Amino acid sequence: MVPTLFVLSTLLALAAATPVARDMLVRESRLRPATGFVWTASAPANTTLNLRLALAQSNTATLVDALYNVSTPGHPSYGQHLSKEEVEQLVAPSPQTVNAVTAWLQQAGVTATNATPAGDWLSISVPVSQANDLFDADFAVYTHAESGQQTIRTMRYSVPLSLESHLDLVYPTTSFPSPTLKKAQFTSPFALKHDAGNNSFTAGCVQGGITPACIYDLYNIPANIRATQKSNSLGVSGFIEQFANQGDLQTFLGAFRPDLQGDQFALQTLDGGQNPQQASKAGIEASLDIQYTVGIAAGVPVTFISVGEQNQDGALGGFLDIINFLLSEQNPPQVLTTSYGEDEPDISPALANNLCNAFAQLGARGTSILFSSGDGGVAGSSSQSCSKFVPTFPSGCPFMTSVGATALNVTQQGNQLIGTESAADFSSGGFSNVFAAPSYQASAVQTYLSGLGGANKGRFNAAGRAFPDVSAIGHDLGIVVDGQLQGVDGTSCSAPVFASMVALLNDALAGAGKAPLGFLNPFLYANPGAFFDITTGDNPGCGTKGFPASEGWDPVTGLGTPNFTALKAAAGL
Ligand SMILES: *[C@@H]1O[C@H](CO)[C@@H](O)[C@H](O)[C@H]1NC(C)=O
Ligand SMILES: *[C@@H]1O[C@H](CO)[C@@H](O)[C@H](O)[C@H]1NC(C)=O
Ligand SMILES: *[C@@H]1O[C@H](CO)[C@@H](O)[C@H](O)[C@H]1NC(C)=O
Ligand SMILES: *[C@@H]1O[C@H](CO)[C@@H](O)[C@H](O)[C@H]1NC(C)=O
Ligand SMILES: *[C@@H]1O[C@H](CO)[C@@H](O)[C@H](O)[C@H]1NC(C)=O
Repeated sequence: MVPTLFVLSTLLALAAATPVARDMLVRESRLRPATGFVWTASAPANTTLNLRLALAQSNTATLVDALYNVSTPGHPSYGQHLSKEEVEQLVAPSPQTVNAVTAWLQQAGVTATNATPAGDWLSISVPVSQANDLFDADFAVYTHAESGQQTIRTMRYSVPLSLESHLDLVYPTTSFPSPTLKKAQFTSPFALKHDAGNNSFTAGCVQGGITPACIYDLYNIPANIRATQKSNSLGVSGFIEQFANQGDLQTFLGAFRPDLQGDQFALQTLDGGQNPQQASKAGIEASLDIQYTVGIAAGVPVTFISVGEQNQDGALGGFLDIINFLLSEQNPPQVLTTSYGEDEPDISPALANNLCNAFAQLGARGTSILFSSGDGGVAGSSSQSCSKFVPTFPSGCPFMTSVGATALNVTQQGNQLIGTESAADFSSGGFSNVFAAPSYQASAVQTYLSGLGGANKGRFNAAGRAFPDVSAIGHDLGIVVDGQLQGVDGTSCSAPVFASMVALLNDALAGAGKAPLGFLNPFLYANPGAFFDITTGDNPGCGTKGFPASEGWDPVTGLGTPNFTALKAAAGL
């Protein structure tokens, strides 16, 4: 007896004397930095880190249940979106969780501030030395070889065992920023086959580039449509110092939508975001996103939401901040379009899940969230070599709508040029490795997989959430940047086009006294007949041809491109 007791008390004494031996649980880890990053040096001990702590939410499962109920046509609660307070009540952490985490921080002399209205995120500022100690981490400087961008990250971190069920994740830690963040690129110069100001564009759609009038033609949008409901609005995300210019917008409208000339976009900023109006500061992505929302969603109030760099972390921190910013608004926009994304492997699964749940919160309140699917085909980010396909984020999240791209395939018949839509070869699509397939797409995806047979076997997770959901034209759209007309390519074009059509539908719904469409996917998959099925083309990458487009849903063009008339009918209008 005696020796046993002796050993026990020695262990206890040791534990009390050496706090480093406290019970810690590895929360997140990765084997190596994200592709393209190399370890450079330990992070200076006195550098201040602004960290964010995600507390366990109280009722995520109920939130998701409520989201599906209000978003599924035919459900008795369809369209009965939740209020800000109802959503906050579902996600607010329990008092036990808040107390446990804040007591632990207080003991370490760290003050936390609330970062969200629901209280599910806390912010702390601590020197690297203390962060390493608190989280058993090894924060170091990593350099992105290609761009030279430096970032402080750790390959793993832990939380006290006693906080296992209270503290979900710490950010930024193991998720890497994406210096090659996908956004629209200039392509061949836009071939304008008509006089600016002359409104007969149809021939131009085939021979030259794409204009708003072409898009109206392609997708059956009535030429004279005008939104009238001022309560209905469309938000456009702006990141990484991309600015939109009112003067360029007017030049664009003068050339392609003279009937809308004078329409402007409103501005919101966060994280020190700006929107300087010198012509030379106009960005390709921001110009595209603004011109193809104001120019397509005729009459819908459009807001450019410029997210600054104060989150220190490019898009991922920005994704978190813009969603929490909108969640804190009493009346967030009914549609949010974002043409930025990252490769899914660069983001920790815990962070991916947290962001995805934030989309669910906004969706439950009635906002449609759309992102471009990415421009690297099945390789996700076009610059990397790969053997397994690389899904993009957030397209793998089931609570948003992922938009792929098409291009006009021009063929000559007699002396006539005919343009038909086929998949754009850069259109990212595939299957998430983090999120499971949601039921709304199960049968559409199963049909595709059966047809695919064994092709690409082992390169993708057939049980994952499949994307994109839909697509829209994404090749050679004419935009004006710094006064110059240019053509752009990318799924970056497709998301604002599709989002604008949703905003026009919401206007009609509001006019009829009905709720906005909100989270779109259950509605979209229930109405495959409201799309032009794209059946040709594929999305090569990783040394393969990628996935082929085919009849029905496919992981290049989703359900297809929108037939506005049919979508309107499907929405009960
Ligand atoms: C951090 O520590 C280094 C080395 O001790 C010192 O030179 C530097 O001034 C310190 N920086 C700050 C911001 O305190
Ligand atoms: C969702 O709807 C089902 C009925 O179909 C109901 O039993 C359930 O309570 C609802 N969930 C929420 C969170 O409203
Ligand atoms: C518009 O341009 C087309 C193509 O150049 C031309 O055929 C047509 O006559 C023009 N229409 C007007 C009203 O100027
Ligand atoms: C373009 O159309 C032609 C003729 O219909 C077809 O053979 C070809 O496969 C199409 N190309 C793409 C990329 O879809
Ligand atoms: C678009 O949808 C409408 C309404 O369902 C339908 O009448 C029309 O034929 C469709 N357009 C095309 C080109 O299929």
